[in-house]
Amino acid sequence: MSEVDRYAVIGHPIAHSRSPVIHRLFAEQTGQLISYGAMDVRPEELDTAVTRFFGEGGKGLNVTVPHKGEVARLVDALDERAAQAGAVNTIYVRTDGTLGGDNTDGHGLVTDLQQNLGIEIQDRRILIFGAGGATRGIVPVLVDSGPAELVIANRTLEKARLLELQFASSGNVAAVRFEDLTEPFDLVLNATSAGLKGEEAPFPSDVVDSHSVCYDLAYAMQPTPFQVWARRHGAAAAHSGWGMLIEQAAESFRVWRGVRPDTGPIRAALAPDV
Ligand code: ATR
Repeated sequence: MSEVDRYAVIGHPIAHSRSPVIHRLFAEQTGQLISYGAMDVRPEELDTAVTRFFGEGGKGLNVTVPHKGEVARLVDALDERAAQAGAVNTIYVRTDGTLGGDNTDGHGLVTDLQQNLGIEIQDRRILIFGAGGATRGIVPVLVDSGPAELVIANRTLEKARLLELQFASSGNVAAVRFEDLTEPFDLVLNATSAGLKGEEAPFPSDVVDSHSVCYDLAYAMQPTPFQVWARRHGAAAAHSGWGMLIEQAAESFRVWRGVRPDTGPIRAALAPDV
């Protein structure tokens, strides 16, 4: 068995992943001796790849598209935030040797919004575009942060309705179609993959005014199509998801190593100012 604790991110495709460089910087900063690789794992190889990685002494995995939902059935226990999201982005070895599944995406988003960007969630009116896996990961933590209202708008209304039902007891989650949206929101989050292939972002402009802050869960070296759309419609600010990416990674690192990296220098080193 190797002396260095082994970690990796699994996804398909994976070549674009920034996680190896982020975790290398975290390890350097905190003086932790780890290795962190990237594994391209096709859906039909998922079970074998996870079993082999931990069978060979691996200590933890990050899980990205398209495996976050499927991998939940391969762990022995789900943390509450992973169970609520129905998705796992962090697998760790528990003290009894079994596997735990956690989800740090919502934590990453809320930390970036509140601590890094100074954006309030409590008592604010929040809109999310999209009702897929990315949305499921963030809704539980957003609901816990006490927004006045959390509206989920999706092209396929039924998927948004499922989330509305799941969080019905919180009383303030509503599912709508894009065309039902007529008023501006305080915070507008994009959790769709719309626009990424170069097509026009299909969002109604009435949801944005000069007080609205927009935030894309996606990130790129240039402004994302959603950031371009938000600025064109006069939003107060339009952020990309770099901060969320780095904060969710820091929370995974804390789950594995018990040490929380200082994300400030890592954001300054990696995230472009776009
Ligand atoms: P992820 O796990 O990244 O969230 P997903 O589960 O495939 O990926 O969800 C993608 C989201 O983007 C969905 O909300 C999808 O809308 P549908 O549920 O109607 O499919 C949304 N989406 C993707 N392309 C879109 C487009 N061109 N217009 C509007 N919504 C789009």
